[in-house]
Amino acid sequence: MAKQRKRKKKTAKKVRAKPKKRKAKAQRSKVRKGRKSRARVRKAKKRKPVVRKRSKKKSRARKVRTSKRRLLRRKALFPRLSKEGKKPAFKAKDVILVLDFGSQYTQLIARRIRENKVFCQIVPFHISPEEIQRIAPKGLIFSGGPMSVYDKGAPYPQAGLFKLGLPILGICYGMQVITHMLDGKVDKTKEREFGRAELFVDSNADLFANLPTNLTCWMSHGDEIKKMPPGFIKIAHTLNNPIAAFANRQRKIFGVQFHPEVVHTQRGSQILVNFAMRICGCLPRWTMDKFIDSTLKRVQETVARKKVVLGLSGGVDSSVAAALIHRAIGNKLYCIFVDNGLLRKNEVASVEKTFKGHFKMNLVTVDAHTRFLNRLKNVVDPEQKRKIIGEEFIKVFQETAHRIKNVEFLGQGTLYPDVIESVSPLGGPSAKIKSHHNVGGLPKSLKLQLLEPLRDLFKDEVRVIGKHIGVPEVILNRQPFPGPGLAIRIIGEVTQERLDILREADEIVLDEIKKAGLYQNIWQSFAVLLPVKSVGVMGDQRTYENVIAIRCVSSVDGMTADWVQLPNEVLGRIANRIINEVQGVNRVVYDVSSKPPATIEWE
Ligand code: XMP
Repeated sequence: MAKQRKRKKKTAKKVRAKPKKRKAKAQRSKVRKGRKSRARVRKAKKRKPVVRKRSKKKSRARKVRTSKRRLLRRKALFPRLSKEGKKPAFKAKDVILVLDFGSQYTQLIARRIRENKVFCQIVPFHISPEEIQRIAPKGLIFSGGPMSVYDKGAPYPQAGLFKLGLPILGICYGMQVITHMLDGKVDKTKEREFGRAELFVDSNADLFANLPTNLTCWMSHGDEIKKMPPGFIKIAHTLNNPIAAFANRQRKIFGVQFHPEVVHTQRGSQILVNFAMRICGCLPRWTMDKFIDSTLKRVQETVARKKVVLGLSGGVDSSVAAALIHRAIGNKLYCIFVDNGLLRKNEVASVEKTFKGHFKMNLVTVDAHTRFLNRLKNVVDPEQKRKIIGEEFIKVFQETAHRIKNVEFLGQGTLYPDVIESVSPLGGPSAKIKSHHNVGGLPKSLKLQLLEPLRDLFKDEVRVIGKHIGVPEVILNRQPFPGPGLAIRIIGEVTQERLDILREADEIVLDEIKKAGLYQNIWQSFAVLLPVKSVGVMGDQRTYENVIAIRCVSSVDGMTADWVQLPNEVLGRIANRIINEVQGVNRVVYDVSSKPPATIEWE
């Protein structure tokens, strides 16, 4: 023992002695290095300057290293598409995942949960258990869907999900698929149940906590639960539906036959909050302030010393994206605003005032109206117009972007609904309808990395962010304006003369709608120039002039729309002003068609 102790002491001494030795060694080498480097400087002064040639091999290796480094940096900060869906750019602590089984209400589930400050992400139904473990959510929600569990090709989640031990809530089809996979029985209802129903809560311990025992709920289903899986108990029923909600409290698996996410279900949001907070243990941490802070940091780290270009349209999404990126990196952001000659009256001046004047951004406005007009000569087909405008926009943008040196990123105002649609295995409810709306999409040939700071947000969240960072209300509350602009509101050929007529008429519509206090309540209000002339009389003169159609629609998301019953006085004022003030128009008509079967735009 004594020997051992001695040996230990010796080694301890050695260890302690080492740093001293190291220090002395380091000092000696410093002196030597100093001497050497002084000598080297002297020699170098004598030598003629030599241009060092890097070998091809070395520079290739260097290139690979830099692009690898770039890739790693990008991957770390803005993780891209995995096979199963896109990761959020925002890293939240408490996440609920919604597995999308194709319901038209899937996005609503996520929105309701986010409204309660819990971050929620939509993923495809076939997401793997490993992918879920990587995201590490606190709970899963299985959305509704249009199919029956017995249909050929019906979507099932991977069985391994049930072994993760995560709380699960199945909604409508989600509840049925849980039943089917855990050995319960699903069957057809005698009659499809659609609409409001009275829900009687049998147990308000968790999912229905803080709720009355009777609620109105929204049903939309053709199948129902005939036998619950082993270990489940009924926690609510309706008169038609003995098992309207069930629970396996030990495994924390729940199901509701109705849709808590739609407004017609009374206190539906509370049911989702109960799941997210009580059952999954999430805390309300998803706030816009936190989002802004973390996004600014992320953008700064990602962009580093490079530059970003962004196509500004003056709409909500690109404006908020620009303002956010600008706040993060200041004048390393270059906004390109393409004046295609198809914009509304005063649009160019107003965009310049806001972004150049107010925000002091690097804004490059490109006056390309002649180019667009030349290419649109003799074109009457709506799809052809869209194609030409899209192509020309890309060309102009590309030419301008190439003139800015050292650009590595393309800023875009992509929103979460676009992301969901692009990864949704079933296409998403609006994917097909909107496929022709992507005018202004920039091609991969730009070879720029995408910077999409809003890709985790819904439109209403983008407006909140915009307000926080000082984007003017006039931009945030702007009605949507299509990428191809006035060209798809001029039926037939687009000419300068026709553009001028429409621009004046359109301005009057907006002005009167705003004066009547209706602008915020209307989805879109605009004028359309028709390709017909009609006879009129002005003074004692016969006229033969253009017809303007007024279109005012209400809508939630542009996918369906109703025509607005404008007060007669407002309609009268609009018509009078257009006929009196716009040269070349002698008749105004009002469009009273809904979507479907009509569309909002005439082309
Ligand atoms: P529709 O006419 O299909 O329009 O009922 C629905 C919504 O989409 C807008 N829209 C477009 N937006 N590029 C756009 O950026 C387009 O090509 C385009 N076409 C229609 C339309 O204004 C409405 O809000």
